[in-house]
Amino acid sequence: MIYEDQYNLHPTMLAKSLCLALAMAAMPGLASAQSTYQASTAEAPINIVNLAELEEQVRPAMEEGAFGYIRSGAENEINLRSNSTSFDRKYIMPRILQGLESSDLNLATSLLGIELKTPIIQAPMAAQGLAHVEGEIATARGIAKSGSIFSLSTYGNKTIEEVAEAGGDNPFFFQLYMSKNDAFNEFTLKRAKESGAKAIILTVDSPVGGYREEDIRTDFKFPLGMPNLEVFAAQHDDGSKTGQGSGITEIYAQAKQAFTPDDINYVKELTGLPVIVKGVQSPSDARIAVKAGADAIWVSNHGGRQLDSGPASFDVSPLVPKAVKKRVPIIFDSGVRRGSHVFKALASGADVVAVGRPILYGLHLGGSEGVHSVIEHLNKELRINMMLAGAKDVEAIKKTRLYTDEDFN
Ligand SMILES: Cc1cc2nc3c(=O)[nH]c(=O)nc-3n(C[C@H](O)[C@H](O)[C@H](O)COP(=O)(O)O)c2cc1C
Repeated sequence: MIYEDQYNLHPTMLAKSLCLALAMAAMPGLASAQSTYQASTAEAPINIVNLAELEEQVRPAMEEGAFGYIRSGAENEINLRSNSTSFDRKYIMPRILQGLESSDLNLATSLLGIELKTPIIQAPMAAQGLAHVEGEIATARGIAKSGSIFSLSTYGNKTIEEVAEAGGDNPFFFQLYMSKNDAFNEFTLKRAKESGAKAIILTVDSPVGGYREEDIRTDFKFPLGMPNLEVFAAQHDDGSKTGQGSGITEIYAQAKQAFTPDDINYVKELTGLPVIVKGVQSPSDARIAVKAGADAIWVSNHGGRQLDSGPASFDVSPLVPKAVKKRVPIIFDSGVRRGSHVFKALASGADVVAVGRPILYGLHLGGSEGVHSVIEHLNKELRINMMLAGAKDVEAIKKTRLYTDEDFN
């Protein structure tokens, strides 16, 4: 591992990384595990007409199984599709005579006390080394450049310490897939806290992986290791799967299934950090999570990768804020591909909107600059929608009433 040359690490981080590298080298078979997987090395801004088109630009250039793992959804992919099409059922009323200049528009907002240049953040996604050799390090850099928040998945291809270093002073969150083994949870959360994570995202919508036929068809196995699992396994020799050569089902099999409200408090007490509960669709679950101490609710159906028969995330988006009653902020994701989608999600009660797959496509096509291009493109579309709707900032968007067909009959 050539951490110093590659990433120019701070001495303290370098020492930590070397310890992790030594621990990993001590793990039988791991140090010699080589992958022939070749990800993109691109590093340049990308020209984007719209985010949906990025998928077809990436498809021919990426290994079939990896692309399928990123793109696909569960079963018939009804939920994957409806996540985006459901936005079409609500309308933004054009407003004129509002005295707005483009220069009046302001996208800045905040989340859990963190200042953001845009209400658009990156959703945590596993295995970003499939998209680019620098994986989560490049994403963290691109997101930092956009003035937004990077979130690292437990199943990422880079360590917590590496992404903390890559983002510099920019805030980051750590997404926890709780393990059945509490020793892993304690070990990993301690590292996240020590590395400066500003919040823990507790994902609770994946007690099993959704039935994703694409992964079955390609017999997809992760070609790269998941170092945040490897570091623990190297020190505890517990025989757990650490990513490379495993399918998502094997990885999920190690994760906790029987979630209860007490798990929220467990993570809060261990870290002293805000806990964001991710994967909420039902208003009842939102109420339970807030009562149990959640510091934010992340409305998501995992981008249509879990329960194919569930509602589109946007369809439940007005219900959850009603249940939450502004007690904690709301983050929204699943299906966001347009500035108008961001606008509509904010107007339906979200405080911040997250984007998943398009960020990985941007990462593949342009590295950290590609990630930045994706956020900038969404910002551009959002600004146009704001101007045409007469909403000069995020607060004004949140106060905007959306219309449905019933309003016009
Ligand atoms: C390839 C991929 C990997 C993902 N990995 C994780 C993960 O590790 N943890 C998590 O909480 N959500 C994960 N998600 C879900 C995203 O955080 C997010 O909810 C979803 O991608 C949003 O939908 P969108 O892709 O339509 O924007 C993943 C999604 C994708 C596409």
